[in-house]
Amino acid sequence: MTRSAFDYVDGVLHAEGVSAASLAEQFGTPLYVYSRAALTEAWNAYASACAGRRATVHVAVKANSNLAVLNVFARLGAGFDIVSGGELARVLAAGGKAENTVFSGVGKHADEMRQALAAGVKCFNVESIPELDRLNAVAAEMGKKAPVSLRVNPDVDAKTHPYISTGLKSNKFGVAFEDARATYRAAAAMTHLDVVGIDCHIGSQITEVAPYLDAVDKVLELVDQIEQDGVKIRHIDVGGGLGITYDDETPPEIGDFVRTVLDRIEACGHGHREVYFEPGRSLVGNAGVLLTRVEFLKPGAEKNFAIVDAAMTDLARPAMYEAYHAIEAVVKRDVPAHVYDVVGPVCESGDWLGRERLLAVEPGDLLAIRSAGAYGFVMSSNYNTRPRAAEVMVDGTQAYVVRAREEVKQLFAGETILPA
Ligand code: LLP
Repeated sequence: MTRSAFDYVDGVLHAEGVSAASLAEQFGTPLYVYSRAALTEAWNAYASACAGRRATVHVAVKANSNLAVLNVFARLGAGFDIVSGGELARVLAAGGKAENTVFSGVGKHADEMRQALAAGVKCFNVESIPELDRLNAVAAEMGKKAPVSLRVNPDVDAKTHPYISTGLKSNKFGVAFEDARATYRAAAAMTHLDVVGIDCHIGSQITEVAPYLDAVDKVLELVDQIEQDGVKIRHIDVGGGLGITYDDETPPEIGDFVRTVLDRIEACGHGHREVYFEPGRSLVGNAGVLLTRVEFLKPGAEKNFAIVDAAMTDLARPAMYEAYHAIEAVVKRDVPAHVYDVVGPVCESGDWLGRERLLAVEPGDLLAIRSAGAYGFVMSSNYNTRPRAAEVMVDGTQAYVVRAREEVKQLFAGETILPA
């Protein structure tokens, strides 16, 4: 995805046809701003590469679960990948369909299974024998058959941050490769399960296609063995994980990535099976920015700090993964540039958003934190009793508030004190 939906016009950052400065003025900061055009462009890149092939795309809801964002994808015909009953409720509220939704996650609660079975999800991506047992019992109790695929762990190195790498043996995810065949036999023998597919997800922010091809090769080999055991595999879910450009990364283009994976599956003689993709970040990451205002500039003996009104509570990725997000002044100004650590007001040294950034700013100026559309708002918290930011979606020259800024009174509305 390009960043073109967010570009400078006469020295002012715009989201499509709307000035980011005017958005901050109107809706306050910190403010998440999404571009419908950028979401659509990324979706179309997946959709056009899948056109005419046996492949479908399921948006990973966890990356950005705002109803308006999900609704943009639902209107484009997307399927969804969920990891909780809460995400299922969001998909349905946003106009998505249960029958196009796959349910992933390593620890599904029995209630969530009931909810998903009642709604009629397309497939449960199951990660262990105890989970198979639980799903079988829940389905029996409801007089239904649950469609299942097993998430296998192909033990490949996705070469990404350890916290977001999931395909290695040392991770908590998936069924170990050596156990997969026996686990499939066990699943096939359960009376209220219907084995329909296989899936894997090797990690996130992956910038090369090679780890995917390694995983695909291993999974296809396994598919042949599973079918020799008499269990039919109708679909192969290759997970999500395609990376984006935050800084100078050069991930494959979405279309090239999709075609390369599909070509490999076809070349291995598995072209008759349906292929599922579960992208999150590559659909939404560069379709959003976080706007924040500089409160104070604080010169220090060793470092200069730009203290802004957004914090780790709004964008956790730098604090959690030392992730890099580009930071730019919303209005280009002719003031001296200095190197700053951009930090929030939260009482933690880990509360930083960018380190050693050259910025020409003064107190009161606005900054845009780029590539904040994925794992941004969804990971935000109320630590320090900070209301979560508002979210706005721009569509051409129109801006819509798609989530109102939280109010402090909402934050403790569910709390009570002990009786006198
Ligand atoms: N499918 C499964 C089973 C997943 O676990 C994930 C992400 C995805 C799909 C979507 O992956 P994506 O295309 O977005 O890479 N909070 C971290 C990322 C965690 C990813 C978790 N799983 C971050 O901010 O980088």
